[in-house]
Amino acid sequence: MAILKNRLNDIEKLCAKYPSRRSALLPVLWMVQEQEGWVSQEAMKEVAEIIGCTAAEVYEVVSFYTMYNQKPVGRHHIQFCHTLACAICGSHEAVAHIREKYGFDEGASISRDGKFSLVEVECIGACTEAPAMLVGETLYGNLTPERLDEVLSART
Ligand code: FES
Repeated sequence: MAILKNRLNDIEKLCAKYPSRRSALLPVLWMVQEQEGWVSQEAMKEVAEIIGCTAAEVYEVVSFYTMYNQKPVGRHHIQFCHTLACAICGSHEAVAHIREKYGFDEGASISRDGKFSLVEVECIGACTEAPAMLVGETLYGNLTPERLDEVLSART
């Protein structure tokens, strides 16, 4: 239990709230991500052992939900919606703007300075404010290039 050794009491309290330990999978994974910034294969194995399922079952969940990061992320993690409403309103152009202005190499998911990471995701529930993105857990919508720069330039 290298990764979660200091969280075992919290995990036990969480598991006690559910009829089955396996039901605590999502919040336990969230604990891992809050602590590590992402969910590694090593962490998935630990979580499986703690809640009593297989590592493959944990991986199925981690790979289904884009809210779980399967690799390290930048200091500010951007999830940009590329579903229909946002695509129509310019999400592809906005992503290209971010990649060019904030120093992403071709195909890279983290900027050269490690400040930002960027993934395109399915609808984040802000279609009326398209195009929209999450930076960490904060939602931003109606993203013109100017608004993007205002939001991202303020990040240190
Ligand atoms: S389509 Fe982008 S938030 Fe729903």
